[in-house]
Amino acid sequence: MLKLWNQEAVDWRLALRTEMEGAGSRLSVEADGKTATLWVGLGDAETVTAETVRRAAAKGIKTLKGLGAKTVVLDPAAAQTLLHQEGIDAMAQGAALALYRPRSWKTEEQTDMTLYMESALPSEESNSLTEAICLARDLVNCPANHLVPADLARTMTETARTYGVETEIISAEQARALGMEAFLTVGDSAGHAPCLIVLRYRGGAPDQAPIGLVGKGVTCDTGGYCLKPASSMKGIKGDMAGAAAVFGALLALARNKVPVNATVVIPSVENRIAPDSFIPGDVIGSMSGKTIEIGNTDAEGRLILADAITYALRKEGVGRVLDIATLTGAVVGMFGFTTAGFLCNDEAYCTDFMEAAAVSGEQYWRLPAFDEYRKMIESPVADVSNVSNDGCGTITAGLFLEAFTESHPWLHIDIAGTAWVDSPKWEYQTNGATGAAVTTLYHLCKAMAKEA
Ligand code: BES
Ligand code: ZN
Ligand code: ZN
Repeated sequence: MLKLWNQEAVDWRLALRTEMEGAGSRLSVEADGKTATLWVGLGDAETVTAETVRRAAAKGIKTLKGLGAKTVVLDPAAAQTLLHQEGIDAMAQGAALALYRPRSWKTEEQTDMTLYMESALPSEESNSLTEAICLARDLVNCPANHLVPADLARTMTETARTYGVETEIISAEQARALGMEAFLTVGDSAGHAPCLIVLRYRGGAPDQAPIGLVGKGVTCDTGGYCLKPASSMKGIKGDMAGAAAVFGALLALARNKVPVNATVVIPSVENRIAPDSFIPGDVIGSMSGKTIEIGNTDAEGRLILADAITYALRKEGVGRVLDIATLTGAVVGMFGFTTAGFLCNDEAYCTDFMEAAAVSGEQYWRLPAFDEYRKMIESPVADVSNVSNDGCGTITAGLFLEAFTESHPWLHIDIAGTAWVDSPKWEYQTNGATGAAVTTLYHLCKAMAKEA
């Protein structure tokens, strides 16, 4: 992590300044005989936001890494003048995220750059968010053979407990007793047993209903009998980015003692092929009592999320519900890798969410929920079908989940495009997992604490 600079010799100093045009794009080098300084432009002072600073710092640090710098001191003066503590935080976060490296199984060790900050340090809140993003990236980048549902459960509960979060792991047997047939239909497809991970953070008033944060935790998604083509299999270990997002956000809430109640529920499974795995045409039940016709075994996320939502409502007594998932390829076609789509049935909730996104700097776009879309998931033989008969894959996947929300305020986020990048879309990203939604979910819950 970042340390305060003690004036010892460093390879480079990284500084930002507004008078240079083109945020993050202009670079110049200046040397005074002792230390060389890399200047990165922030563009017009009027337009500088935390996101501008994050990108500029990341751009600078990646440039210095390319030049072989081993020790760098960050000069936050310009960012501090413009944005105060928020500017210092953004500079530190941009640099740290740009330097993120996933765990490596290379036999040769790699060394990290040492980062110092001149004169001022980022806040504890900012540090905890940076760490939460990196933790989410670690989980998503982890190979599926090193992170089966039981591993995910162990890692999450061990870490969460150190911050005073109450944890519970619901086994496949317990889930069977609860009638979680949709969850188990997918989970039973694999040799590694499924589990439901429950994390309860209680920072708010005892009588305040917690927000339910439900994250898709598919540790690998082969598609099942509707097997994915080889070309679509590369990122299948990352199908638990929704789980990583809610986990990261909850840890940050706990570390910052935010006065809110939040309950994370993660259905974790592998979607694989076994002799008796589910197949298209099957009709299954669910914890809610509703029946589901299977149209495609690759639409597994909504099946496990449906039961997790019912569990959150009926067993955890949550008020607002939020579910987040790498749910559909269609959202990538629609918004690419920079923007996540969402659905919401409550205007105040939607406003809170968009305000949280404005603070985090992440991009989200609301999708319509017209009745015609609900018709697309009607089934001739069951209460609902797990695929649409007429396209609109992202909306219909969301509306499938809406059928299980029992009229609670509900928000559904599809991060299939934003959770993973093969090349960075912004400089503070690195190839692979992005840590999408961690900061937005944190700020959403924090804003709810203020309202309560
Ligand atoms: N996990 C995938 C969605 C996905 C696609 C995530 C690309 C990340 C990148 C999901 O389980 C899936 O396979 N969805 C299908 C649904 C379809 C069969 C209705 C899809 O989007 O193709
Ligand atoms: Zn799938
Ligand atoms: Zn999936």
